Amino acid sequence: MAYTIAVAGKGGVGKTTVSGLLVRYLVEQGLKPVLAVDADSNSNLNEVLGLELNMTLGDAREDMKKGQSHGMTKNLFIEMRVNQCLEEAEGFDLIAMGRPEGAGCYCAANHLLTASMDQLAGNYRFLVVDNEAGMEHISRVTTQRVDLLLVVSDPSRRSMTAAARVAELAKEMGILAGDAFLILSMVRGELAPELSASAAEMGVELAGFIPDDEALAQADLQGRPTSKLPADNPAVKAAFAIFDKVIPAAWRQ
Ligand SMILES: Nc1ncnc2c1ncn2[C@@H]1O[C@H](COP(=O)(O)OP(=O)(O)O)[C@@H](O)[C@H]1O
Ligand SMILES: [Mg+2]
Repeated sequence: MAYTIAVAGKGGVGKTTVSGLLVRYLVEQGLKPVLAVDADSNSNLNEVLGLELNMTLGDAREDMKKGQSHGMTKNLFIEMRVNQCLEEAEGFDLIAMGRPEGAGCYCAANHLLTASMDQLAGNYRFLVVDNEAGMEHISRVTTQRVDLLLVVSDPSRRSMTAAARVAELAKEMGILAGDAFLILSMVRGELAPELSASAAEMGVELAGFIPDDEALAQADLQGRPTSKLPADNPAVKAAFAIFDKVIPAAWRQ
């Protein structure tokens, strides 16, 4: 089974950036193949990774609900659609959940989709799931449990409280099988010592911080994929050092 790493946290804190860098890290470490799952309905992990997105699972779900299976069995149809949603790259593939469900019952469609995604996940060594603010819809992607939860936060107390809540919720929902770590992103200058203390108080382990990086911000503004910044970029270096620390040695063998 693939090791599943979920990235969560409030909006705009740097989740997608961390997810993109994590995909690159795993590929560079030879821990491939990796499946990058964009679980944000406002898909943009593809931009961070430098890929085009043609079709999402949301589109497939709509077609299925409308009964547009073109005479195929539903199983075959969804399998074909899931494959069409898959964007292939060097060492990894990307799939996006896309738009949320409309009105009406999507149970049957979701059931088939989850089964098909579970089957797909079996082809990969690692799954990296970039979430929306919460993690509620992770159960719509796969029935697999999350082996590692990375909660991203900006260095403010408010955002950290939200992050700690996400970690707590994941534990309560029973979807977390392993550890949860906090990553502080977009940190200017040195990390205020109070923040490490607050993290400890909130019951999440602080894995490290990623600096607020001008080159990263510029790349994003110019529409360049931020996961492809040079290896000596301070944000890339900091993120990789965090991944070195949080990915257990047992998973690297
Ligand atoms: N370490 C960083 N330094 C500078 N800008 C960053 C950093 N991390 C993220 N950003 C920028 O902040 C914005 C939000 O980041 P993003 O990863 O999309 O957050 P989220 O997925 O949590 O909404 C993007 O424009 C991104 O390029
Ligand atoms: Mg995002």
